[in-house]
Amino acid sequence: MTTSPDQIDPGVLLETAVNAGRAAGKLLLGFAQSGFRVHHKSPINLVTDADRAAEQLIIGHIRAQFPTHRFLAEEQGRVEQSPSPYLWIIDPLDGTTNFAHGYPAYCVSIGLEYRGHCILGVVFDPSRDELFTAIEGAGAQLNSRPIHVSSTATLGESLLVTGFAYDIRETPRNNLDHFAKFALKAQGLRRTGSAALDLCYVAVGRFDGFWEVRLNPWDMAAGSVIVREARGQLTDFSGTNLSIYGQELVASNGHIHQAMLTVLHEEPARSTPPG
Ligand code: IPD
Ligand code: CA
Ligand code: CA
Repeated sequence: MTTSPDQIDPGVLLETAVNAGRAAGKLLLGFAQSGFRVHHKSPINLVTDADRAAEQLIIGHIRAQFPTHRFLAEEQGRVEQSPSPYLWIIDPLDGTTNFAHGYPAYCVSIGLEYRGHCILGVVFDPSRDELFTAIEGAGAQLNSRPIHVSSTATLGESLLVTGFAYDIRETPRNNLDHFAKFALKAQGLRRTGSAALDLCYVAVGRFDGFWEVRLNPWDMAAGSVIVREARGQLTDFSGTNLSIYGQELVASNGHIHQAMLTVLHEEPARSTPPG
C-alpha cells in the first residue's frame, strides 16, 4: 500500500479513537447511574443529556489531537473545519432508547473515513467492557483479540438480527414485511436496539446476519469496517457493496448472504382466502 504525505499512522488514529470511545463510555455509565434528562426529537425518537455530552467529549478529544479534521456526528450534524481528507463519523450513544430505559445494550461508535473510504472503526460497549476495533487491512479485534464471522452455512441454522427506524409509524418501508419472512426462515431473530453492536456481533460470530432499511452513516461507519475486517460481507439489498450513505444494509458471514438477499426480494406472502 502506498502512503500519501497527508496520511497519519493508523495506530495513532486508532489510539485516539479508543481513548475517546472509552472516555465517552465511562461518561455514559456515569449518566446511567446519576440520571439524565430525556428529550423527544419525535414521539419515539429520544435524545438524552448523555448523548449530547458524550458527543462533545469525543469531538473535543479528537480535535485536540487533530485540529484540522472534519466531523459528522449524530447530534450536531456535519462540522466542516477544513478540507482535511479525514472525516470522523460519530454516534456518541447508539441504543438511546435502551439507555433511556436502563436496558444495558448501547455503545459508542466512532468511524473514520480517509478520502471518502472508511478505514477505521471503534465500538465500545461500556456495560460489558467490550471494545471492538478494526483498521483496514489489519483485521478486527474484540478486547485486543482477533475476531472473525461465524461459519454457519444456512439461514435455517442462523441467528439473525434487525432493527426498525424511528419513522416506523409513518412509512410503508417499515421492515415489518421482512421481519415476518425472516422470522419463519431463521433459527432465531433478535432486535437489540443498537445497530453498531449488531454489526460487531456479526463480526464476532454471535449473529450470522443483520439487515436494516433506514440506517444513518453514524450507525454503520465503525461497525462496517469491523465486519469487513472480520471477513464478513456487506452490501445493500441489491447486493452492491455497502455505502454508509445509502441507508440499506445487509451484513453477514458471507455464507448466508445470498439467501438473505433472496428473502429480501421475495414478494410479500398473500393470505389465502378461506374456503
Ligand atoms: C438506532 C439504533 C437502532 C436502529 C435505529 C437507530 P440510536 O440508533 O441503532 O438499533 O434500529 O435505526 O436509529 O438512535 O439509538 O443512536
Ligand atoms: Ca444510532
Ligand atoms: Ca445515537
